[in-house]
Amino acid sequence: MSEAGTTAIRVEQTQQSRLSQVDFNDLKFGKILSDHMLVADYADGQWEEPSIVPYGNLSLSPATSAIHYGQSIFEGLKAYKFADGTVSVFRPDQNLNRFNKSASRLEMPEVPEELFIGGIKTLLDIDRAWIPQLEGSSLYIRPFMFATEAALGVHPSDSYKFIVITGPVGAYYNKPLRLKVETHFTRAAQGGVGFSKNAGNYALSLHPTRLAQEEGFDQLMWTDAIEHKYVEEAGTANLLFRVGDTIITPSSDTILHGITRRTIIEIARHWGYQAEERKVSVQELIEGIENGSVTEAFAAGTAATLTPISEIGYEGKIYTLPDPEKREFSNKVLQYLNDLRYGHIADEFGWNVIVG
Ligand code: PLP
Ligand code: COI
Repeated sequence: MSEAGTTAIRVEQTQQSRLSQVDFNDLKFGKILSDHMLVADYADGQWEEPSIVPYGNLSLSPATSAIHYGQSIFEGLKAYKFADGTVSVFRPDQNLNRFNKSASRLEMPEVPEELFIGGIKTLLDIDRAWIPQLEGSSLYIRPFMFATEAALGVHPSDSYKFIVITGPVGAYYNKPLRLKVETHFTRAAQGGVGFSKNAGNYALSLHPTRLAQEEGFDQLMWTDAIEHKYVEEAGTANLLFRVGDTIITPSSDTILHGITRRTIIEIARHWGYQAEERKVSVQELIEGIENGSVTEAFAAGTAATLTPISEIGYEGKIYTLPDPEKREFSNKVLQYLNDLRYGHIADEFGWNVIVG
């Protein structure tokens, strides 16, 4: 655990908390947003002093360049409340790192650590009461940045807004997933922006995902842009498979390098499993399911946590994976992650960042 204080930031408290309207036993993902948000502006080549203000609407020019040309990136991370009330954020340094990689690729300014992590801690301290204590629930934290220059020429904006909003959430998926292997549409190509967490990656996924949902699938399993031969990731999560005592995850710069996936791989290695980050062909996966060597398959992400994959659809055929309840590694690692995040066990990796 690392202890660190909060950052001094101008705070305007809400006069009308919405907390009493929240049913913490019925949390839908992303529908409820906490009382306050952190806002910082970037102009003239530097970040201005951030402030924490009541959650509310923004006023923007219709020419705001993020709306037209998509200079818009985000992150997703979670805070947990231990039984004794301690508040902990899970690996925020990893999100900061990825955020700044996304920023560079989209020609946006980097956000300094004290703004990103210090800002989140201060915000959480103020909205502490919004962090659910119920196991299985957490506070989802959404930092984002977008271009604010009001101009229609295509060029990097000269001004940006960095905002953090939060909200209590339950599970993103409440049942095992049926995924369709996508062999027509493409999410990302080599040299593109697949590794970055930018808004456009999600916009382009909506139409193909809707088509798959009309066929009864929950999400897509994206494949490479050139041959549609190698699996990449699911709509909102990375993919992991177990073969014998090896955990395998597709690796490529066209996919988002997930923090949950990295965490699971680090735990797996620590426990003595092998872990491989490499290309995984659809063929290898399908054959492995058919001959029984792929014993577990799951999606891993901040919102998704660890969600088992029950079925995979490929070229009109359905391939069924073993019963999720009987999956040894997935269930063990999910239990371990929960125990760690809710403070039931020692934080041997130093991943919990305590809000002071
Ligand atoms: N891939 C995509 C497209 C995602 O949206 C997410 C969710 O953030 C992930 C993978 C998993 O990343 P992480 O574990 O860092 O949340
Ligand atoms: C997250 O897990 O933070 C994600 O990005 C998923 C989100 C798009 C719902």
